[in-house]
Amino acid sequence: MNDDPAAFIAANTEIQSTQLLPEIRLHLASENMAIWQMNDEERSAAGVPLPYWAFAWAGGQALARYLLDHPETVAGRKLLDVGAGSGLEAIAGAMAGATVIAADTDPFAVAATEMNAKLNNVSVHATPDDPVGQSGDWDLVMVGDLFFEQPLAKQMEAWLRGLLAAGVEVLIGDPKRTYLPREGLEKITTYAVPTTSALEDSDLRNASVWRMVDL
Ligand SMILES: C[S@@+](CC[C@H](N)C(=O)[O-])C[C@H]1O[C@@H](n2cnc3c(N)ncnc32)[C@H](O)[C@@H]1O
Repeated sequence: MNDDPAAFIAANTEIQSTQLLPEIRLHLASENMAIWQMNDEERSAAGVPLPYWAFAWAGGQALARYLLDHPETVAGRKLLDVGAGSGLEAIAGAMAGATVIAADTDPFAVAATEMNAKLNNVSVHATPDDPVGQSGDWDLVMVGDLFFEQPLAKQMEAWLRGLLAAGVEVLIGDPKRTYLPREGLEKITTYAVPTTSALEDSDLRNASVWRMVDL
């Protein structure tokens, strides 16, 4: 594993905002940057896992937009962001007045979230500890674009259902990835998210914000 994630991120990204979130600045990879061109072998030689943190995923963008537009949803509350990636929705939560923990098992995502929070002058506690399966002192748990892989999605859904039953609010931002739960979600709103065709096979994805509700 590359032992200086912050230096790698600084060298392989540029500071950008997405069209949907002009208020937030992030270290992101552009399509012409080396990180896009790396194959699995080159990434492994560089000691770098798949750089999910280098992109603002459609689901996370929708969630972040919603929090910025509806700060009352999270202001003054304790928020856990699971699978934070670049930290975009965690940063939006902090801008909206929440106390935010951003968890991501990838140490590069933890470093990216710390760098991006600093860039936006907000405080976010980033951690590599995996909260899935754990309980904690959270009022609201949010998940941005994490239902793309079946085992993880199943594990995530079961854990989120347990939290909901214990009184924790759950918000999900997702463009209807393959393993997004089909039941027990109430759509709050949908955004047309400009994205990159290299990542999504399309320049625009509709991504919704969902509230988990009892089955
Ligand atoms: C597609 S990215 C989404 C990032 C961000 N939420 C967004 O919407 O831009 C998914 C992220 O989830 C993280 N992840 C996967 N499994 C996880 C787990 N069990 N706990 C915490 N993070 C996890 C990955 O490392 C990755 O950064």
